Amino acid sequence: MLEDDFGREVSGVRVSLTDRCNFDCVYCHNEGLGDTRGPMDPQDDEMSADDVVRFLEVVSEFGVQKVKFTGGEPMLRGDLEEIIERTPDSMEVSLTTNGTFLPGRAEDLRAAGLERVNVSQDALDPEAFAEITQSGAYERVIEGVEAALDAGLDPVKLNMVVFEHTAGYVEGMVDHVAANPGLQLQLIEYMPELTGHPEWNIDIQRVHGWLEETADRVETREMHNRRRYYVGEGMVEIVDPVENPNFCANCHRVRVTHEGYLKGCLNRNDDLRSMGEMTREEIRETFRETVANRVPFYGEYMIREDGEWVVNDEYVDAPITHS
Ligand code: 5AD
Repeated sequence: MLEDDFGREVSGVRVSLTDRCNFDCVYCHNEGLGDTRGPMDPQDDEMSADDVVRFLEVVSEFGVQKVKFTGGEPMLRGDLEEIIERTPDSMEVSLTTNGTFLPGRAEDLRAAGLERVNVSQDALDPEAFAEITQSGAYERVIEGVEAALDAGLDPVKLNMVVFEHTAGYVEGMVDHVAANPGLQLQLIEYMPELTGHPEWNIDIQRVHGWLEETADRVETREMHNRRRYYVGEGMVEIVDPVENPNFCANCHRVRVTHEGYLKGCLNRNDDLRSMGEMTREEIRETFRETVANRVPFYGEYMIREDGEWVVNDEYVDAPITHS
């Protein structure tokens, strides 16, 4: 496996297959690219299935064992099943989706080799859901989760972004997964860095505190130092990357934009590298460069000065280096 200067091996890739989405979530960071949403028809700036598969074949040579497909909404790609089918067998495949297209397709995805799915579900309440996602597809999402479970894609992880609009629904969602053995919950700290609206922030430590009291059992995972809270039949995790050097120190993934750029960090847009025509050699070179230059966002790119997070002088105006 390739390792960066901070001892972080790259064991996974997160591949955006499109930036199109049928939702318009108010909190969405669009994989760190800003507001890129456009027409819902297929676009020619997207990597082809051949490009994606070639990329995965190359990085699997470097020992990358995991791929997560994301978007936008990756299920807007009609060739998603083909891409999963053609993903190297050595790789574990998962998908992050809003769930609306799972009914009728979950079985095919599973048959193609999909192992796990994360479904974004930010509330149990249709009205709150519509307000957050700017769409009314709550019922479809619930059906989508069911379809995934029926297809054997369990446990299904529900992603819930915790911010002002959803904080009141955390308890209900925890009860929901506690009563459903096939479900797990990921409470994701709202990341204001890329979205504006810092005023929507809530203190994630309060959620930790509340869960600690509510859970039957708490487990700390050695590797990520991430706690797992067991409640009833369910498991709840908190993903809290904001201003968290420990989180960044444990980041083992590199991102790929739908246009075929490598991105070393979700929070940065100054470290994008084009893979050009995506020949095997170009992919190899760009991947090596990306890994060699990636740095932890909190703790290295951003450092604490007088109680404030500021960009480390070393990276102010630092040009992207090419070998
Ligand atoms: N903060 C935290 N999580 C976010 N996601 C999208 N935007 C944000 C944000 N601003 C997460 C959602 C979604 C996944 C693809 O990214 O949980 O499920």
